Amino acid sequence: MENQNILCEIAEGVATVTVNRPGSLNALNSQVLGELECTLYKLEQDAAVSVVILTGAGEKAFVAGADIKEMAEMNSFEGHRFALQGQRVMLFMEKMTKPVIAAVNGYALGGGLELALACDVIYASDNAKLGFPEVTLGIIPGFGGTQNLARLIGPNRAKELIYSGRMINAQKALAWGVVNEVVAQAELAAKALDLAREIAKNGSLGVGYAKNAIVNGLNMTKEDGFRYESSLFGVLFATADQKEGMSAFVEKRKAQFQGK
Ligand code: CAA
Repeated sequence: MENQNILCEIAEGVATVTVNRPGSLNALNSQVLGELECTLYKLEQDAAVSVVILTGAGEKAFVAGADIKEMAEMNSFEGHRFALQGQRVMLFMEKMTKPVIAAVNGYALGGGLELALACDVIYASDNAKLGFPEVTLGIIPGFGGTQNLARLIGPNRAKELIYSGRMINAQKALAWGVVNEVVAQAELAAKALDLAREIAKNGSLGVGYAKNAIVNGLNMTKEDGFRYESSLFGVLFATADQKEGMSAFVEKRKAQFQGK
């Protein structure tokens, strides 16, 4: 079935995925989440794709949250199922071997901020506003926000943001370490593309294993994380990319990685 709300363009190893529901500020309903999940799943399998950029359509919003109009009609069972659906997408993004860069081009609220937090790198435009307004609606973040924000910036600032429901601007998000960098909105897409292209030139196995080591290592003791890292390091010595990368250095030429 064709996507109604998710656009996907692939060029030179970079897939740009756009949540395209500007009339609702790109709010995530269950259909959008389903389309996003399918799209990401296909991109993970696609050998022509090394890096994914995720953004929102229009100049106003990245994603203004989960769809409040849909949630307003949900009972407890449906609310739980909806949270599990959103969490499945966020967890899949962490499991993907390919890095995902969020280009946050406006409001990133609730489920929208959760989507950004599930990405590997977050670039924000200078007009971006970020926050978790869930408590103003009588609920809590449900797509992993309580867990991911507290892990990223520490519990105190996460509590301040989540308990108050207030929005912070891009500069404050940068100072708090929620986003990697802030750029003018007109430069955001190019900024994300530059990083994506730089990553895409590297050995995709190396990049994927680095992501795996960082994401999984965060849930381990330091010693287990070190052990895990050295195992992955060793496995890479059985790959053609490692042979190519090191031969190219010795032969003073550019490496041509094949992802195997
Ligand atoms: N769900 C559904 N529709 C939404 C939406 C959302 N999260 N956010 C915006 N929209 C819709 C508005 O209802 C409006 O539609 P209509 O024209 O049909 O009325 C349209 O998008 C434009 O929005 P506004 O007129 O409100 O635009 P604004 O510039 O006045 O305000 C805003 C922008 C401050 C972002 C405001 O839209 C807003 O507060 N949105 C809701 C943000 C929010 O609470 N997000 C969290 C949702 S809960 C969640 O995400 C739970 C979870 O963790 C899983």
